[in-house]
Amino acid sequence: MTAPFVTRVSRADAAAVGDAVRCLKAGGLVAFPTETVYGLGADATDGRAIARLYEAKGRPAFNPLIAHVADLAAARALARFEAEAEKLAEAFWPGPLTLVLPKTAGCPVAELATAGLDSIAVRVPHHPVAQKILAAFGRPIVAPSANRSGHVSPTTAAHVLADLRGRIDLIVDGGSTPVGVESTIIACLDAPMLLRPGGLPREDIERVLKRPLAEPPTGIVPEDDAPLAPGMLASHYAPRTRLRLDAERVETGEALLAFGPTLAAGSENAARVLNLSQRGDLIEAAANLFSHLRALDAAGAKSIAVMPIPHDGLGEAINDRLARAAAPR
Ligand code: TXA
Ligand code: MG
Repeated sequence: MTAPFVTRVSRADAAAVGDAVRCLKAGGLVAFPTETVYGLGADATDGRAIARLYEAKGRPAFNPLIAHVADLAAARALARFEAEAEKLAEAFWPGPLTLVLPKTAGCPVAELATAGLDSIAVRVPHHPVAQKILAAFGRPIVAPSANRSGHVSPTTAAHVLADLRGRIDLIVDGGSTPVGVESTIIACLDAPMLLRPGGLPREDIERVLKRPLAEPPTGIVPEDDAPLAPGMLASHYAPRTRLRLDAERVETGEALLAFGPTLAAGSENAARVLNLSQRGDLIEAAANLFSHLRALDAAGAKSIAVMPIPHDGLGEAINDRLARAAAPR
């Protein structure tokens, strides 16, 4: 048994930013909001801090992390930008886009964070709290989503606390994260390839590139394979309760995750009903996805019926996360 460990929670103000930076410098673990989901931050150049981070998340060590930096200039110290990567960074940073790029020769990010790959995932978040911490820290911060491995990503400080209390040093509470699903990941190693649909819709990216994104060679990476984007592990985003997708009606004892103005048949008998977006808005639905999944998971229903959700825009990321949450484990 290690000594009891207290996780502090601070409202995001100037003092909390200072506290976060001191903590990161000392090799600590700090959860903070980004526009997508809460990240669990560690000094990207500190191998020991990163080892603690893997330990706190219970994450398989082969799963590489995203290095977060304050701006494109800082990103250039870590990664090489070819023409198309440059275009995407100019168009969408700061924002919910992660680029997987060739590492620079002098890249200061610890080998453990990139799991020995010669590519690196880099992101410039636009959330003001993330921006302030990155600017004040002045070094890259690795930040996976701040949940235990295999759980859904946290969109509030309370979600982070529920998963990581006693395992991390500090949570900077900046309210709910506006986008609600993780960043879109594009590899620019060859033709730009969509590794993970996310908070930036594919259509926006293809408009800037003026061509369709390449698809990864296999839809889903096997659990113990050398992963291209281990976020693609089939059952990565998992509530405990079984999910039943594209449900047209609710069975007895089920909870309902609804979408749109008209509820599925049988909803009056549901154990609990939460609507991702009553007006059928995919942006609102993404923002509600993980907190609604958590709340329905806690309802003790025999399963969660999920109404069909359109696949366009942010619907691609929403359907992707739901498919993972429903994958057999
Ligand atoms: O929105 C987000 O991206 C959040 C916030 C906190 O920034 N972060 C996040 O990190 O979702 P994480 O660790 O939960 O997911 C990062 C994904 C993983 O699936 C990882 O395998 C993939 O990025 N990844 C990281 N480096 C990679 C690389 N060099 N090549 C391919 N995939 C990589
Ligand atoms: Mg994650």
